[in-house]
Amino acid sequence: MALGWLGRACLLLLCLCGEAAAGRDFYKILGVSRGASVKDIKKAYRKLALQLHPDRNPDDPRAQEKFQDLGAAYEVLSDEEKRKQYDAYGEEGLKDGHQSSHGDIFSHFFGDFGFMFGGNPRQQDRNIPRGSDIIVDLEVTLEEVYSGNFVEVVRNKPVARQAPGKRKCNCRQEMRTTQLGPGRFQMTQEVVCDECPNVKLVNEERTLEVEIEPGVRDGMEYPFIGEGEPHVDGEPGDLRFRIKVLKHPVFERRGDDLYTNVTISLVEALTGFEMDVTHLDGHKVHVARDKITKPGAKLWKKGEGLPNFDNNNIKGSLIITFDVEFPKEQLTSEQREGLKQLLKQGSVQKVYNGLQGY
Ligand SMILES: *[C@@H]1O[C@H](CO)[C@@H](O)[C@H](O)[C@H]1NC(C)=O
Repeated sequence: MALGWLGRACLLLLCLCGEAAAGRDFYKILGVSRGASVKDIKKAYRKLALQLHPDRNPDDPRAQEKFQDLGAAYEVLSDEEKRKQYDAYGEEGLKDGHQSSHGDIFSHFFGDFGFMFGGNPRQQDRNIPRGSDIIVDLEVTLEEVYSGNFVEVVRNKPVARQAPGKRKCNCRQEMRTTQLGPGRFQMTQEVVCDECPNVKLVNEERTLEVEIEPGVRDGMEYPFIGEGEPHVDGEPGDLRFRIKVLKHPVFERRGDDLYTNVTISLVEALTGFEMDVTHLDGHKVHVARDKITKPGAKLWKKGEGLPNFDNNNIKGSLIITFDVEFPKEQLTSEQREGLKQLLKQGSVQKVYNGLQGY
């Protein structure tokens, strides 16, 4: 009887342990399937991090916790080794020696990932000295703008490390009042400093990851908070990647629309044609015409432009401008007669001001 009770208690305990060992479901937290690619995981993380950031959810008492769960999920699932371990043994399996290398989830969030974090990325305290910001042009192809991409940038950056000794810091001007006698005071200004642990700057290699978001526009900036020049007495500046979209040989961008030119033959212009234009991600855009196509005619393909930056589900148009290549060979007199018979166009010789429309 006593044993039976003990046995049941043990069973209960085991169950509890089992539950604890299962830990958090990182896949569920990120909202991805167990087979999700690294790219999908990053995408999901990025989206949720912006949604769940505590600054954006001041009314949710669990905001901090949710955000930390998300950070933990991302840290594990974006790392091949940790993910394997997690898949096999759950969160418990990560605990030995695999503790988070990022003590502060916020520095992780802002540090390793470039984010478009609406408006001012951080509240700046005017009194704290800051290192300067570094702006780096990041060249991206139109293919990357269309499909999105993640690029890794290795940065060698000097970071402040503690060094032996002390140094003066937080120096400021202070007024000192000395009483010279009854009713007589002297006010002097003097520099007062604190003593801080000494620091030295050590070069450290960091891999930063920038997401090229679909539809990103020229000149947009991805800030990495605190990755700029360090400041011994204050906080480091920011590193900002500025998007520079490279020219493309086939497509030209205007807003969310793409423009391209297609040359067709005179016969195709007159009799119609079918063709496929290979898009930026390799998919084919089918173009078919059975009417006459004049030189300079434009064909709009709705939804075949670039994804809109703010809403990737909306796409611009692809606008194809046709030009017509005439036959290079001169025609024989029979061919000329034949064409005249065929086209029956007669003469439209109209003389007009050739500058019209310029
Ligand atoms: C299409 O042709 C026009 C006129 O020649 C040119 O200005 C434009 O840049 C061309 N577009 C592309 C995408 O090459």
